[in-house]
Amino acid sequence: MPGPTLHEGLEALRADRASEPAAVRAITRLASEFGTPLYVYDKATITGQFRAFRAAFAPRFSKPSVLYALKANTNGALVSLLRAEGASAEVVSLGEILAAVGAGYRGDEILFTSSSKAPEEIAKAVEIGAVVNVDSRDELEQVAAHAEAAGRKARISFRINPGVDPHTLHQINTGIAESKFGLHLEGGLARAGYKRAKELPSIRIEGVHCHIGSQITEIEGYVATARKMLSFVRELKEELSIRVSFVDLGGGLGVPYHDGEEGLTPAALASALEPLWRRFTADAGYEPELWMEPGRFFVGPAGFLVTRVNSVKETPLKVFVNVNAGSNTLLRPAMYAAHHRARVVGRTGAPEALDIAGDVCETGDILAAERLLPRPRAGDFVVFLDAGAYGFSMASTYNARPLPPEILVDGDTATLIRRRGTFDDLVRDEIRPSPAPRTKGASVGSKREAPRRRKRPSRPPGKRRGA
Ligand code: LLP
Repeated sequence: MPGPTLHEGLEALRADRASEPAAVRAITRLASEFGTPLYVYDKATITGQFRAFRAAFAPRFSKPSVLYALKANTNGALVSLLRAEGASAEVVSLGEILAAVGAGYRGDEILFTSSSKAPEEIAKAVEIGAVVNVDSRDELEQVAAHAEAAGRKARISFRINPGVDPHTLHQINTGIAESKFGLHLEGGLARAGYKRAKELPSIRIEGVHCHIGSQITEIEGYVATARKMLSFVRELKEELSIRVSFVDLGGGLGVPYHDGEEGLTPAALASALEPLWRRFTADAGYEPELWMEPGRFFVGPAGFLVTRVNSVKETPLKVFVNVNAGSNTLLRPAMYAAHHRARVVGRTGAPEALDIAGDVCETGDILAAERLLPRPRAGDFVVFLDAGAYGFSMASTYNARPLPPEILVDGDTATLIRRRGTFDDLVRDEIRPSPAPRTKGASVGSKREAPRRRKRPSRPPGKRRGA
């Protein structure tokens, strides 16, 4: 009888059955084939999350469209997988535009959002026919000028700042009035933006957009935002005779990061938005497409960071489990005090409070603090869950540690979708001067006295060499 598949092993980890053979076999096999640290993504989870999201919106809205926010994970294998599932792309930089195009997206399937777009980014977006999601009046004029010079019409929307607080972490709260993002509804700034856009011959208005934050777990912020946005869209039609072809209500759907947590479901979100949308389309007398653009929801729960234990240390206050990855590999715990479930693979001992510490020289480099887990030994594996979004995409080579590889698991097949970084990668782009001679006697801790300088023979004044 064939044993459990890699997918089943990953599922066992998620279900907190890390000591069972399915989990042990899967992680041992992946680690021995690809080494650690290692990012692993489960294909069935990504497609499952995407399909669940679409299934929630499809029956409730006549023209729903789902975009994938590439910033969550730009690996081309995942990006093209989501395109095959039917996602369009939301991107924030030239690099992400190229990642989307490289994964097969056509220009007209791409929405380019950024609060600070460089001229070359605007030029590329206009050239490929992406929708440029304009963030300011200044930028609008630049987009119009680019389009005019290129003899094209730029397709645009404005990112709107609705002034709504979705009650998420401050660093990822973007809808509040003090954030740097979007054109404010307040003070008529958004309205004035559309009025100006309508006057510009090289601009074609396509839609309105907002994104109020990330890891949102309460419905109220979405509802308050939808109310404001939809009433603004009506105002655009009634007062400026502008009909938009889409209304994008952003991404941000939170995922559960703790065992037993429910999270906000796409069905709850879709059913809260549905009555507002119905009323709006009846009042407005037309129906634009409804766009949503999650990132984390699709790829976050699909990702696992596999680490190996280097050593275990008891201090008077804590027990540290030192693993071979750190905040350079998974930044979220250090940056946001974010919680990622940690699983000790294959151990059944009584749970103890453990701190899983990274291998970076920073006090804050703790991947999981005071977790009740069986104590592992050196060589064991500790796996962090829900690491598929903002994991690899925020990783760095700090402390001269090469980037980890990425693997896509499909059933019992594991495919390398990014090779492990190398030490050569770290220095490849450096330009090294030829080594300067080392000052003699300057080494730290040298007991030798610096050699005395030999006195030069004095020369008669005014008779310098070469003079
Ligand atoms: N659309 C826009 C315009 C965005 O700025 C973002 C995320 C998204 C969509 C997707 O949001 P999501 O559905 O993934 O929540 N590094 C942080 C998250 C930053 C999110 C930035 N914008 C973290 O690790 O939690």
